[in-house]
Amino acid sequence: MRIAVVPGSFDPVTNGHLDIINRASKLFDKVIVLVSYNPNKQKARFSVKERLEMINAVIGDFDNVVADCNDGLLADYLERTGACAIVKGLRAVTDFEYEFQMALANRQLCSTAETVFLTTSPMNMYLSSSMVREIASLGGDINGFVPPAIRGVILERLSPNHGNIKK
Ligand code: PNS
Repeated sequence: MRIAVVPGSFDPVTNGHLDIINRASKLFDKVIVLVSYNPNKQKARFSVKERLEMINAVIGDFDNVVADCNDGLLADYLERTGACAIVKGLRAVTDFEYEFQMALANRQLCSTAETVFLTTSPMNMYLSSSMVREIASLGGDINGFVPPAIRGVILERLSPNHGNIKK
């Protein structure tokens, strides 16, 4: 069985992530969406449990996609699960150097897995979790950036006015 891991912070999962997960699910027998620890990022806004719940709420349509979490090295997780690929989405060129560096390091740490880059769909080119957090926390409309199933949860947590807008 060819298993791929889609790792990320997913704080929160966006339509851009879902597009990559969907496309990966057609290339591999099984896809694990892995909520991972990124030591370069400040404390996440959503807990690991909440991020997993949001991912589980949006992957229901795929029978070969599951969600999991890992707070150690991605390479160790790949070895443990026998995954043969890390799937990452590439947006603008600014992503490239960082992703290239991680791909090389992961290959050194786990030679049995390849990093596969999928180019983002044009409408998600500039979409990121941090942009969603910023828009929601300033009371903006996040429709079109995140799947409808998790929009309420994100707004509930981040939007300044959600739940007490005067009619
Ligand atoms: O969504 P992100 O934060 O850009 O994803 C980065 C992530 C979480 C995939 C990366 O930081 C990662 O793989 N973390 C796990 C720890 C690890 O293996 N670090 C070495 C990477 S070469």
